[in-house]
Amino acid sequence: MEKIILTGDRPTGRLHVGHYVGSLKRRVELQNSGEFDKIYIMIADAQALTDNFDNPDKVRSNISNVALDYLSCGLDPEKSTLFVQSYVSELTELTFFYSNLVTVSRLERNPTVKSEIKMRGFNTSIPVGFFTYPISQAADITAFKANVVPVGEDQLPMIEQAREIVRSFNRTYDCDVLVEPKASISTNQACLRLPGTDGKAKMSKSLGNCIYLSDDPKDIRTKVMSMYTDPDHIRIEDPGKLEGNTVFTYLDAFCQDDFFAEYLPDYANLQELKDHYTRGGLGDVKVKKFLYNVLMEELSPIQAKRAELEKDIPAVMEILHKGSIEAKAVAAQTLDQVKSAMKINYFK
Ligand code: TRP
Repeated sequence: MEKIILTGDRPTGRLHVGHYVGSLKRRVELQNSGEFDKIYIMIADAQALTDNFDNPDKVRSNISNVALDYLSCGLDPEKSTLFVQSYVSELTELTFFYSNLVTVSRLERNPTVKSEIKMRGFNTSIPVGFFTYPISQAADITAFKANVVPVGEDQLPMIEQAREIVRSFNRTYDCDVLVEPKASISTNQACLRLPGTDGKAKMSKSLGNCIYLSDDPKDIRTKVMSMYTDPDHIRIEDPGKLEGNTVFTYLDAFCQDDFFAEYLPDYANLQELKDHYTRGGLGDVKVKKFLYNVLMEELSPIQAKRAELEKDIPAVMEILHKGSIEAKAVAAQTLDQVKSAMKINYFK
């Protein structure tokens, strides 16, 4: 069987380092592994509109932002098809057909949707489009017969629901048209759930606790220097705690041993640094300065590439246009098969 990847992001803002370690970096590795027959990376503008329907300018302006983030991180249009969700109208038809196979109570149990409803304060006024977006996400994945979906941990319930839809469709229409996808998530705990700079569970624009890939180095420095650490670690001599210490969580996600020789030669590796911190005698400022260097080591080449790409936005949009045309053709084939299986292919 062919190995096919599909994944994507909502264009509601620039991508941050949580996106990067949680999924983006891995996508680039998978892309460059050469193990996959096809890779589709989707900018989920239609999904973004399910809770931003009254803010189309926000979604529109972030199409190129997300595309720039993708390309500057190393997603390569020669190897991956980058496309825009709303261009592929076949996805909407698939969503409509799949919605017959999903109950309201099943959607209500989806933990990601549940917590998002709470976060957005929808109470009982939940837009239908938002409530049913897991079905549309199943359409995104299955339209391309993707079997591998690299995502952050919060997306696992979506993939599970997509798998159920695939099984239900193939069973109901006695066919094997749809392919069951598997999520692929990072094995690094820190990468799975990179907290915001304030130590809060999740990075989110509204909390103002994000470090964006395209942040100015000066701003990154300020954000790192004000990061949440161990509130009881007051004097340098005090022993410090690692648990819940955001600076160390970020180091777990980003640090490589060879960074020490260059930026902090008194230590050979992260464990030695942690041991000194917990023993006492190591100040937060020193660790934060090191983290800043570690982050910039990773982000500098990404930022340099972004600066280049930003000079020609029409070329970036053209990559998306070309990818969208290609993606639409693939989705149309699956839609044909779906309609045949459902016996609504009257005029073929
Ligand atoms: N829900 C994803 C997010 O919040 C975006 C997305 C839409 C997606 N469709 C998808 C991810 C299909 C993986 C597969 O960013």
